Amino acid sequence: MIRTRIAGIGMYVPKNVVTNNDLMQVMETSDEWIQERTGIKERRFATRFEDTTTTMGVEAAKIAMQRGGVTVNNIDFIIFATLTPDYYFPGCGVLAQRALGIKEIGALDIRDQCSGFIYALSVADQFIKTGMYKNILLIASETHSYGLDFSTKGRNVSVIFGDGAGAVVLQPLKAEPGDAPRGILSTHLHSDGTEAELLSMINPGFHVGKFVPGKRPTEPSQPYGGLFITKELIEKDDIYPYMDGPAVFKKAVVKFPEVIKEALTANGYQPSDLNLLIPHQANLRISQMVQHILKLRDDQVYNNIQKYGNTTAASVPIALCEAWENGKVNDNDLVCLAAFGSGFTWASALLRW
Ligand SMILES: CC(C)(COP(=O)(O)OP(=O)(O)OC[C@H]1O[C@@H](n2cnc3c(N)ncnc32)[C@H](O)[C@@H]1OP(=O)(O)O)[C@@H](O)C(=O)NCCC(=O)NCCS
Repeated sequence: MIRTRIAGIGMYVPKNVVTNNDLMQVMETSDEWIQERTGIKERRFATRFEDTTTTMGVEAAKIAMQRGGVTVNNIDFIIFATLTPDYYFPGCGVLAQRALGIKEIGALDIRDQCSGFIYALSVADQFIKTGMYKNILLIASETHSYGLDFSTKGRNVSVIFGDGAGAVVLQPLKAEPGDAPRGILSTHLHSDGTEAELLSMINPGFHVGKFVPGKRPTEPSQPYGGLFITKELIEKDDIYPYMDGPAVFKKAVVKFPEVIKEALTANGYQPSDLNLLIPHQANLRISQMVQHILKLRDDQVYNNIQKYGNTTAASVPIALCEAWENGKVNDNDLVCLAAFGSGFTWASALLRW
């Protein structure tokens, strides 16, 4: 039986540290409010005109490949997860391929927002288990800071998000009959689009206001085109992410424990068996509630949102990488990755390291 293992892991965060006090210089907010509601003390912002989602992802990928003992010549498939791609199209997968000088292999781009890394991990797992690929490079990277509303109007969103990247190299792990299962034990993917707009960035877009009353653009004078981005959108400042924070919070604290339990139950484990839970770093209060619901000790849950904010798709691999670097993930540990985010989408993966 073939399973998938993480052979190498890397992360990259840009050098600019932006504290809550720094944000207070551009909007009405406070360090107390941000820390009390989210746990965030600081985040990293990309260096303007230097870092992009692709370049940060590539830096993380180089570390993952080096630690995995592979070179670009070994990589036979790329998966790139992001909600902040450099271009509308093509995706960051081919841009990373070009930057790394990787030959003509497939490159797949994945959305799925905060759950993007775990969705991508699940896709990679299927390719590895079928024997189709032997060295998949999975990158998750985000550059939120270039596109958020840093006026007081956008403060409920802009104080939460940060930039950064994580990457893993995935390889097959051959198990002999009787061996205890290792590597990725299972993945569990869910979504429910009924409340898609509660955490969304819909403009610029091709939706022509179809799903959201009041967002229909004024009919342009020309018969074709002119609907994707309009002057009206820019004048109304209607080009930023929207989040109904309390609604997202309520849903997250239900779905996180549900999908974690699903992964544990599928493999015959209890929460107490976990060595480490790495929840997507959405909000420290959400992680704390999940920990409480699952009755986990502090040492069973890894959080680093305090330093990086919410880096959406990149948050799980950044946290996993940092936990591994700090000696909190060791051989044979039972590790659960879990995420919840825009869509809504939510997902988990259980691994025996
Ligand atoms: C965003 C979040 C921190 C807001 O906290 P909340 O307690 O729900 O706050 P509300 O949105 O109800 O707003 C409460 C007040 O704080 C204000 N506020 C919002 N952002 C603020 C900020 N950055 N600084 C200061 N005040 C702020 C609001 O304007 C509101 O003021 P009012 O009462 O005068 O109208 C919280 O809802 C949350 O964390 N939700 C989940 C978000 C998340 O995890 N998203 C990512 C999912 S992947």
